[in-house]
Amino acid sequence: MTETLQTPEVSKNARALLSADQLHVTFPGRRGAAEARAVDGVDLDIAPGEIVALVGESGCGKTSLARTLLGLEKPTTGKVTFAGKPLDYASKALKSYRKRVQLVLQDPSGSLNPRHTVYDAVAEGLRIHGYTGDEREAVSNALSRAGLRPPERFFLRYPHELSGGQRQRVVIAGALVLDPELIVADEPVASLDASVRGEILALLLRLRDELGLSALVVTHDLGLAWNIADRVAVMYLGRIVETGRVEDVLTSPQHPYTQALLSVLPEAPGEPVVLTGEPPDPSRIPGGCRFHARCQVLADGRADEAGVADACRTVDLPVLTGAATSQVACHWAAAGAEDSGDSR
Ligand SMILES: Nc1ncnc2c1ncn2[C@@H]1O[C@H](COP(=O)(O)OP(=O)(O)O)[C@@H](O)[C@H]1O
Ligand code: SF4
Ligand SMILES: [Mg+2]
Repeated sequence: MTETLQTPEVSKNARALLSADQLHVTFPGRRGAAEARAVDGVDLDIAPGEIVALVGESGCGKTSLARTLLGLEKPTTGKVTFAGKPLDYASKALKSYRKRVQLVLQDPSGSLNPRHTVYDAVAEGLRIHGYTGDEREAVSNALSRAGLRPPERFFLRYPHELSGGQRQRVVIAGALVLDPELIVADEPVASLDASVRGEILALLLRLRDELGLSALVVTHDLGLAWNIADRVAVMYLGRIVETGRVEDVLTSPQHPYTQALLSVLPEAPGEPVVLTGEPPDPSRIPGGCRFHARCQVLADGRADEAGVADACRTVDLPVLTGAATSQVACHWAAAGAEDSGDSR
């Protein structure tokens, strides 16, 4: 039988700009199939001016979590809080929320209308929100802040006349034009080549420094998280399994899943850890530790040595609090076994 450890009572971070609280997002299964628990208990706080990277393999629930934080998806249970208030899902309230929290999508060629000029693409948000100021000046400022200078030179261009990096900047300008407090960037550079990727990341960092913008950057790329984030949250099968300051998590990962993800980066020392077992399926979340069927530490006997192998298979782990401290959801790490020096 699967038991559940008690979640420790830790007070929520009152300073957080955006918080997820015990968030669950479940999609109904098609034709009698089991429902998919895409987000299965997530707490996450993002402070003003903080950049948090959400990392994990494809299918682990990153986009579902991001969409729920944006109010595009309603949580099945749990709540989203912005600036101290729970999200109001009435359409008028959501519209004003979407001005303060902007989505920057991956694949700029897909998110820009090929028949709209750069000017119209950037002005669109202002028009939707009934902006009464000087539209031309606002568009011009947003393009400059996104690094497209002089902005007037881009007004009448069409997406096909721009490079991939320029298109991504137009998408960012479209978000910035509304003066958001937080942006959620879902795989912002996945479709760009390496040199352009660096430029876009530098831009996001500059926006944080100049405008105090907060960001949630969703990525399957840990190397990207390293370059941009203050804090990283590692997601596996609908849960955050490890979180902490980016330099702590990436130089000294505690969770076997984080260790495996890091071990396959080109610059990683030692042998890459190849995860065995079936790819994760949110309609069949295993009991015990949800990673146990693929865990290299359980498979190679280290969990057994530490006396936690039974717990790995049968005892669920608590949901990590969303706070900005180092936390890990793993029986083996909790037993202190990962400090013995032979973890990699
Ligand atoms: N609208 C939906 N209906 C049913 N299942 C969905 C829906 N959106 C996502 N899923 C499922 O939820 C899981 C998580 O998906 P997603 O949040 O897109 O993950 P990621 O962004 O990490 O790749 C996947 O198994 C996916 O198939
Ligand atoms: S709890 Fe056990 S199975 Fe899960 S990651 Fe830790 S060692 Fe592996
Ligand atoms: Mg995704």
